[in-house]
Amino acid sequence: MSDVVYSHGHHESVTRAHAARTVENSAAYLVPYLERGQRILDVGCGPGSITIDLARRVGDGEVVGIDASAQVVEQARALAEASGVTNVRFEVGDAYAVDAADGSFDVVHAHQVLQHLGEPVAALAEWRRASRGIVAARDVVYSATAIHPFSEGLREWRRIIVALQDANGGEADAGSHLKAWARAAGFTDIATDVETWCFESDQARTWWGHQWAERAIASSFATGTDEHGLATPADREAIAEAWTAWAADPDGWMSMIHGWIVARA
Ligand SMILES: C[S@@+](CC[C@H](N)C(=O)[O-])C[C@H]1O[C@@H](n2cnc3c(N)ncnc32)[C@H](O)[C@@H]1O
Repeated sequence: MSDVVYSHGHHESVTRAHAARTVENSAAYLVPYLERGQRILDVGCGPGSITIDLARRVGDGEVVGIDASAQVVEQARALAEASGVTNVRFEVGDAYAVDAADGSFDVVHAHQVLQHLGEPVAALAEWRRASRGIVAARDVVYSATAIHPFSEGLREWRRIIVALQDANGGEADAGSHLKAWARAAGFTDIATDVETWCFESDQARTWWGHQWAERAIASSFATGTDEHGLATPADREAIAEAWTAWAADPDGWMSMIHGWIVARA
C-alpha cells in the first residue's frame, strides 16, 4: 500500500536490540488490559520477544505476530521455539491488510511500527476492523530524546535519525501523533499517555551505546543516510565514537519518551 522504507532495517545489531524488548519494558501500559484466553495480533512484531511475552500472559489464549519481513519472521519463530511458548505463531503479513475476518482479535497491538508507515491512519483503521476489543500502539518521539552529555556527535545522531525517518516516508515523532491518527481513523474512546525509557546504569549505557556504535556503521542507518546524503562515512564514524564515549562515561544519562494509545474498536 505504501512504499515507505523501514529505516532501521534488519541488521543483526538492530534485531539484537529489538529482541531485548519485553511487555514490562515496552508495553507496560497494556498489562491492565490483558486477560487469560484473549486472542492478540501483534503487528510489525519484529524478532518477536514482545509477542512471545504477550503469549505467556494470556494462558490458553493465542497470539499471532505478523511482519512484512520474512527474515525477521523466521527469527521470531526460532525465538518462540527456543522459549518453549506454544500459543504463539508468526506469519509474514501486511499492517495495511490483516489476513483475518472483522473482529477476530481482542487486542491488536503494535510497538514502534506506526512511525515507519506512510499511511498510519489507514493502518489504524484496518486494525480497528480486525479488533473486537482494543487497538494499542506505542511509538517514540525521537526529537524529544534527552541525552547527557549532549556531545556534538550525539546531537548529530538525533538530528540525522529524525531526518532519515522523514526521508524514508515515516514519522520520527509518531508518539505525539497517535491520538490524532486514532481520531482520524474513527476511534472515539482513546486512552493515551507516555512511557519513558531511561538508560543510565553502566550496563544500560554499555548495551545502548555499543549497539548504536555498531548500527551507525553497519545497519540501514548507514546505507539510508548514505543514499539520502544525510551523513558521510566520517560523520557516521563520529556518531559511533560519540556513542562509545557516552557508554564509557559514568555521567551518561538519556531518556526517550514514547506516546501510547489504547483505543476501543
Ligand atoms: C521498529 S521494528 C519493531 C519490532 C517490534 N514490534 C518490537 O518493538 O520489537 C518495526 C517492524 O515493523 C515492520 N514493518 C514495517 N512496515 C510494515 C508493514 N507495512 N507491515 C508489517 N510490518 C511492517 C518492520 O519489518 C519491523 O520489523
